[in-house]
Amino acid sequence: MDVQQTDKIEQICEDLSQIIGGLDLMIISAGIGHLNKNLDFEISHDVVKTNVGGFTCVANWSMNYFQKQGYGHLANISSIAGLLGNGIAPSYNATKAYQINYFNGLRKKVKKLKLRIALTDIRPGFVDTTILKGNGLFWIAPVDKAAKQIYAAIRKKKKRVYVTKRWALIALIIRLKPSLF
Ligand SMILES: NC(=O)c1ccc[n+]([C@@H]2O[C@H](COP(=O)([O-])OP(=O)(O)OC[C@H]3O[C@@H](n4cnc5c(N)ncnc54)[C@H](OP(=O)(O)O)[C@@H]3O)[C@@H](O)[C@H]2O)c1
Repeated sequence: MDVQQTDKIEQICEDLSQIIGGLDLMIISAGIGHLNKNLDFEISHDVVKTNVGGFTCVANWSMNYFQKQGYGHLANISSIAGLLGNGIAPSYNATKAYQINYFNGLRKKVKKLKLRIALTDIRPGFVDTTILKGNGLFWIAPVDKAAKQIYAAIRKKKKRVYVTKRWALIALIIRLKPSLF
């Protein structure tokens, strides 16, 4: 499906869950990022429609489904980019910050209502896929290595994971010394 078509998402998810005989785990991976040096609104809007609109619609549908069912697991691939601003692709980092914060909100809802819903926020650094753009990239992980770590984190129902693991160090430095970035 195209997650930008938010008016169709709920029905598609409903149909899909019936076709596959139920749903225990939803993984949101769809995401885009564009370089946008001239701050063209159409480019920013495209990113927002996928990474915010599509993400929110699928996340909400999944949460409501799992709440009704009594259990479930929602995982999202956000990014370490969500911890930082980005001068040449501001909408990408901002939408990833939104996803991270949205999951924090969902976590509070789960705790307050004592729901049996696990939430896994996956924060990759750089992985060797087509989304990677720009200069100054480092520690680029091969896809299979990243996929194995993501799979392990989901199996363990981890709350949050950095992929590859060394990016946890960068996240710590960002938190302790944001002025460095
Ligand atoms: N690679 C990295 O370094 C990195 C780092 C941090 C976070 N991430 C995140 O990881 C996730 C997966 O990205 P990736 O690295 O695997 O890059 P990718 O190879 O470019 O994959 C992006 C995926 O998103 C799907 N997608 C894009 N727009 C969509 C839409 N409107 N509706 C439905 N699906 C859509 C694409 O589907 P089609 O192929 O059908 O277009 C593709 O499967 C993204 O959320 C990305 O932000 C990646």
